[in-house]
Amino acid sequence: MKKHIVVIAGDGIGQEVTAVGKQVLNRIAEKFGHEFTYDEALIGHVAIEATGNPLPAETIAKSKASDAILFGAVGHPKYDNDPSAKVRPEQGLLGIRKALGLYANLRPIKLFDELLQASSIKPEFLKGADILFFRELTGDVYFGERGRKDEGSTAYDTMIYSRYEVERIAVKAFEAAMTRRKKVCSVDKANVLESSRLWREVVQEVAKRYPDVEVEHQFIDAAAMLLIKDPRRFDVVVTGNLFGDILTDEASQIAGSMGMLASASVGDSTGLYEPIHGSAHDITGKGVANPLASVLSAALMLDISFGLKEEAEAVVNAVDQVLKAGYRTRDIADSNTPADKVLGTQAMGEQLLACL
Ligand code: NAI
Ligand code: MG
Repeated sequence: MKKHIVVIAGDGIGQEVTAVGKQVLNRIAEKFGHEFTYDEALIGHVAIEATGNPLPAETIAKSKASDAILFGAVGHPKYDNDPSAKVRPEQGLLGIRKALGLYANLRPIKLFDELLQASSIKPEFLKGADILFFRELTGDVYFGERGRKDEGSTAYDTMIYSRYEVERIAVKAFEAAMTRRKKVCSVDKANVLESSRLWREVVQEVAKRYPDVEVEHQFIDAAAMLLIKDPRRFDVVVTGNLFGDILTDEASQIAGSMGMLASASVGDSTGLYEPIHGSAHDITGKGVANPLASVLSAALMLDISFGLKEEAEAVVNAVDQVLKAGYRTRDIADSNTPADKVLGTQAMGEQLLACL
């Protein structure tokens, strides 16, 4: 199979982890006889430095012409501490999601048995947890009207959803539930927010088309609590952009670390695959970032965009093998991990390649 992949590594550890994700894709191509060609494109702080624009037109054009995108992260401390900056790296990420119509962000919370101990949740509450999040990605408060008034002393963002936006993500969630344990939990704040009341109304309508799927509605605050109290009660979770952003960082603790969680953003055309973590300034350049989220994102690419199930499974199995062999990056190591099994980003990648 011939596929063209655009690599947008972006900022900070995005560069480090994406390099490993790409090596794994190369190894898969070699092993299974596929031909993957690559192009690179700029985004975020590195794009601002090079062109003044966090999302150059060339990046959008290359992305549109691709079969899939392997994405790293955006962000730089310079902007985090300067709220007045008008040009910001995150504009690149929000912009590309919008430009490519990537409205559905799938975040599987997959717990590798070997990492039961790495989580801060007790293993007896975790074992067997398997959740698939559908986070709506191109609406909500991230894209609503925002601004300042009263000479800058008041600021506002608008939480806004339209019927069609809720419907299309809900349909994706119910379709996925049909292939899993047939449960959907929709998360909103319908006791307070009007946009959430529309959300709930539309999800209830979509649910009628899937009589075999058991549906429940939870408020975001309760859902945040239940996720830690009893993660196994969830199968598919569907929620808006902001709630999904927060809830999936929380859920990363089920999988042991931010460095373990992959995501797929899909919609109208090409798919974009990225770790859920950011550019992690605190560890940038140290060579200790966990590359497994990027590697597992590459596996999602093989599965969802290319339909290469066997290849995707080979990648997930390699991750499992390497963990079973006791290798850990720093974020998933614990006091029982021998020092010689704690690996840096590249060394972890080499173990994976050896396994494949
Ligand atoms: P972050 O996700 O970058 O890091 C949070 C914590 O998790 C840090 O302690 C970091 O060291 C750790 N971590 C993250 N990924 C890891 C990995 N692969 N291996 C080991 N440890 C890992 O979030 P933070 O620190 O809030 O934001 C840093 C920058 O990233 C900011 O500029 C922010 O705007 C940006 N950001 C970008 C995102 C994206 O590109 N999708 C998402 C979230 C934040
Ligand atoms: Mg986030």
